[in-house]
This record gives sequence, structure tokens and C-alpha cells, in this order.
Amino acid sequence: MILVTGSAGQIGTELVVELRNRHGPENILAGKHRTPLPDEIASSGPSQIVDVSDPEQLKSTLLNYGITKIFHLSSILSALAESDIQRAHQVNINGVFNVLNAALESNVEQVIIPSSIAAFGTDTPRELTPNDTIQRPSTVYGISKVFTELMGNYFYSRFGLDVRGLRLPGVISWKTEPTAGTTDYAVAMFYGAIVGDKYECYLRPDTALPMMYMPDAIKSLLDLSDANITNLVHHSDFNVHAMTFTPSELEKAIKKINPKFHITYNIDPLRQSIADSWPASLDDSAARKEWGWKPDFDMDSLVNDMYQNLENKLI
Ligand SMILES: NC(=O)c1ccc[n+]([C@@H]2O[C@H](COP(=O)([O-])OP(=O)(O)OC[C@H]3O[C@@H](n4cnc5c(N)ncnc54)[C@H](O)[C@@H]3O)[C@@H](O)[C@H]2O)c1
Repeated sequence: MILVTGSAGQIGTELVVELRNRHGPENILAGKHRTPLPDEIASSGPSQIVDVSDPEQLKSTLLNYGITKIFHLSSILSALAESDIQRAHQVNINGVFNVLNAALESNVEQVIIPSSIAAFGTDTPRELTPNDTIQRPSTVYGISKVFTELMGNYFYSRFGLDVRGLRLPGVISWKTEPTAGTTDYAVAMFYGAIVGDKYECYLRPDTALPMMYMPDAIKSLLDLSDANITNLVHHSDFNVHAMTFTPSELEKAIKKINPKFHITYNIDPLRQSIADSWPASLDDSAARKEWGWKPDFDMDSLVNDMYQNLENKLI
């Protein structure tokens, strides 16, 4: 059986559905914490409260359900982590350690944990960021992601636990709204365009950041999980890239669909400084070579699909 922690989150809600389609609903345990699961997940298969800051509860869940694989998605995202560093430490650092340790003490064979572009910092080359480069993040979220990558690689080399991870960029989706990340403006811009033809952006118009559409994010996690381990040189720290755009470029693309849309700017210094410390684009040749990574969506196909689906949902 496969456990997905953080199943109520932006990525978890979509990953659980895809895993249940592939492996049968009864084989996917949706781990929830404080946020309730959407009906689609709560009613379609097993679910269980899983608090990753509680090692004993975590371990007994793994043993009781006979879990053999974990997609560990519980996390406190970048902007929220900066406003509550204790909780960020508890979930993003202690929680990751607890999951890896409980996996080792049970029958888990593989753990997949997303890292993030936040694992880089201002000392890192910002364009075509290499897979293996300087990582000195200046946020507690970024620090926790470097910890996650290093600890994942450590559990693999020291104990032979098959831990894998990739550095997701801003993930854009219409089903579940994102929580307090720095790239959330992109999703919010679509909501603004559809609901009231306007949006106030908290990042500068020229802030270039890497982004990915949710179907590609799900594909990346599943393809990495399915990869033949003998082909992997890296394990918990793959760059994956799909596209780069700025708020101003996204505005132009949305205007092609909704000419009435307009955007104003009210810069949030915290989120702007976080965004300025992140890469604009990534060299993902290691992921392409070692497990065949290739995204399906570019900016135009993302914008058209996202706008249409969100419009159907909201109107
Ligand atoms: N969404 C993005 O744009 C993005 C980008 C890069 C990396 N990531 C990474 O992908 C993963 C999933 O992200 P997401 O966007 O779905 O996050 P999210 O914030 O939408 O969901 C995270 C979930 O973690 C749960 N959680 C919080 N504390 C917990 C605890 N103590 N025990 C168990 N669960 C707890 C929350 O209830 C929430 O459902 C995270 O590791 C995140 O860092 C996401």
C-alpha cells in the first residue's frame, strides 16, 4: 500500500487521484492533518490522520497499513514558513527525519520527497542553474529543503533506503488553491482574470521564475518513482524544468484570452526578496538523462488549459 502525506494539499489532492486510478483506490492511503480532505478523496478510498511531527503515530500507521511506498508531501510552504519558523522546523525538518526514520523501521521500500527551487540562494547561478551547484538558501523553507535533499541522499547511501526527490518550481493548478508559496501569484492571476478582470500582483512585473503545470508535476513524481534505480546517479536532488515567465508575460498571455484583464502592482518586500533569491531557469539534463524527464506543457498550452478549466470551475 502507498501512503501520501499532505493529501489535502495542492499537489496531494491531484496525486492521490492519479495513484488511485493507476493502482486501485484501496491501495492508496490518503494521509491528512488539519486540513480536511476534499470529498473526491475522502469518499474514494482509505484515509487516516498522519501527523509527521509524531514519530510513534507515523510508525504505527506504516506498520498497520503495510505501507511499502511513501509520497511525502506534508510541508509548510515558503511564505508561511517565514512567518512561523518553529512550525516550519517541526514539519519540514523534524517531519522529514521522522518519515525517513519510520520508513527504515517498517516495511517501506521507497520514499519520494519533493524538494524545491527554494533549495538555491543568491550565490547560485540564476540562469540555467546547474543540478549540482552552490546551495546557500536564505529562507527557513529553503534551508529545510537542503536538509531534505542531503538527508534523503544520506539515508540512501548509509542505509540503502530508496529515497528520491526533485526540485519543483512554482506549480500551477486549478483544482486546489496553493498555500502561501511565493509563486502563488500565477494561480491568483487566473482567478482574478476570471472573477473580476483584474489582479493586484505582489511581485515586480519583471520577476522571472520557473513554473510547471500540475499534470507535469504529477508526471515528474511518478516517473521518478518508476525509474530504474540502476540508472540513477542522483537520488534526492534532481532539477526539473518546464518553463520560465514573469508576471508581465503572464498578464500578456491571459490578455489574449480575456482582453479586459488588467494588472496592478503592490510589491510585498518579503515575497519579492524570496523570489529574487531563486533561480529563473534550471538545467535539468540530469533528470532527462537518468530517468527520461520531459514536460508536456509549455506556457501557451498551460495558459489555455488553466483558463478553460478554472472558468468551468468558477462560472
Ligand atoms: N506547490 C508548489 O508550487 C510547490 C513548489 C515546490 C515544491 N513543493 C513541495 O511539494 C510538496 C507538496 O506541496 P503542496 O503545494 O501540495 O503543499 P500544501 O501546502 O498545499 O500542502 C501541504 C500539506 O501538508 C499538511 N501538513 C502540515 N503540517 C503537517 C503535519 N504536521 N503532518 C502531516 N501533514 C501536515 C497540510 O495539512 C497540507 O495539506 C511540499 O514538499 C512542497 O514543499 C511545492
